[in-house]
This record gives sequence, C-alpha cells and structure tokens, in this order.
Amino acid sequence: MRKSIVVANWKMHGSTDHIKSYVSDLHTKYDSDVITDVDLVFCPPTAYLQSLNLELASNEVSGANHCVLDNCKIGGQDLSHYVSDGAYTGEVSGRMLSDLGCQYVIIGHSERRQYFGENDNLVAEKFIAAIKSGLTPIFCVGENKAERERGETLSVVKRQLQEVLDLACGDDLLNSVIAYEPIWAIGTGLTATPEQASQVHRYIRDLLPNKGISIPVIYGGSVKPENAKELFSEVDIDGALVGGASLNAGSFLSIAASI
Ligand code: G3P
Repeated sequence: MRKSIVVANWKMHGSTDHIKSYVSDLHTKYDSDVITDVDLVFCPPTAYLQSLNLELASNEVSGANHCVLDNCKIGGQDLSHYVSDGAYTGEVSGRMLSDLGCQYVIIGHSERRQYFGENDNLVAEKFIAAIKSGLTPIFCVGENKAERERGETLSVVKRQLQEVLDLACGDDLLNSVIAYEPIWAIGTGLTATPEQASQVHRYIRDLLPNKGISIPVIYGGSVKPENAKELFSEVDIDGALVGGASLNAGSFLSIAASI
C-alpha cells in the first residue's frame, strides 16, 4: 500500500508571524476524521525550519494525550550534495536538516534547476546525500512547455530520473517520493489534466524498481482545492506538491482532505 502525501512547498515565502498564525489556523481547521492516512509535509525556507517545528510541537493537544497534528512533518527545500559538514559556505548538509527534525527534503525542483544551474548529475548526488542523511527525498521531474509541445515529455522525465536510478542502490529508491511537476503548470494556473498527469506517473512507475509498487508518485503544478479531488481520483496520483495554495492553511487542508 503506497503512502499518501501532500507537501507544502512555501518556496521563498514566510515569516515568524506567518508561521504562528498558520499553525494556529492549521490546528483550528484540522479535522482528523476527514484527513486520515495522509502525511502532511511542510517545507518552509530553511531559515524558518526550527520556528515551524517548534510551533507544530507547541500545538500538540494536551490532556487528550494525542497530537492532532501528529501526521504533520517538516521538510527541507534543498541540501548540498555533501552529507556532513565542511568548508562549503552557505550550504546546508543533510545531517543539519536531520538535526533540525526534518524527515523529508525536496530535491531537483525545477526552480533550482533553472535559477541555480542544478544539472541532472548534481541533483542525483543530492538525492543520494538525502538518503545517506536519513531523509526521504521528494525528487522532482518535469518538462517545460516547449518540450511538451514537441512530444518530449517522457524522454525528459526518463533522462532526469535515470541519473538517480544509476546512482541509487539497494533500497535507496524505496525510501523516496517522486514528484511530477510539469514546469508549464507551476504557478500558472494551468494544471495538468488528470489523464496527462496519470500518463506520466504510470511511465515513471514503470522506470522504478519493481514498478515502483511502494513508491509514492505525487503531482505538482497549480494544485488547488478546486481541482485536487479530480487529480486524486487517479489511481496513479498518490498526493500533491503544492506551492501557492499551501501558503494558506485552510486551502492546504482542503487539498489534503480531497485525497
Ligand atoms: O513545488 C510545488 C510548486 O512548484 C507548485 O507550485 O504554485 O503551481 O502550486 P504551484
């Protein structure tokens, strides 16, 4: 049985005040009878990981001896391809993210590939560094508009995934999440249709060991409360990687409740 997972990628947004109000809103609106069997992962900017972690913990429900937010995890947005410490000014190691309480980390997001020159090889090395640090990588693949229009979607996704498949060994991939994020759908309001996304998810699964039977493959790119249910009705879509809509706790929970 594959895990269902909905990830909030806050990108370069947020503040300590926003975190306090967000988690308070999350706690107020969270309905554990509606949102079941799904991991909620929050990936704030690295600068706010500790604040978020502390705020989430402080919202545990006392007295009832349970934490309403117990399936809420935190994740990093990136890490260096070094597992531990070293003379790499400005970098964050996988060990540090683990030390901050992260369980997940987004790897290979198209914005890092586009703006920070991260090529397939570097991204694959970061994937391995995440695994060695005890983190679950959320590995992003996806084509741009021109590549889709030229019918190159599947070859692009295969090229991006192949570097990881070549470097990974043993169970490395079993402890990962793959995110299909068509670049033309990110921040544009142009969501892939469930059929478009499912076709790529099925292809990704066929590339994975044992047909990726236990590896969640999630979709990202203009996921909103209005379209989440239709996307999640596809058997090959195990969740979502949400950008803009994740900055509002109510919208994010509404998406998670659709799974
Ligand atoms: O990583 C998720 C992000 O790229 C999607 O952004 O705003 O289209 O949901 P958005």
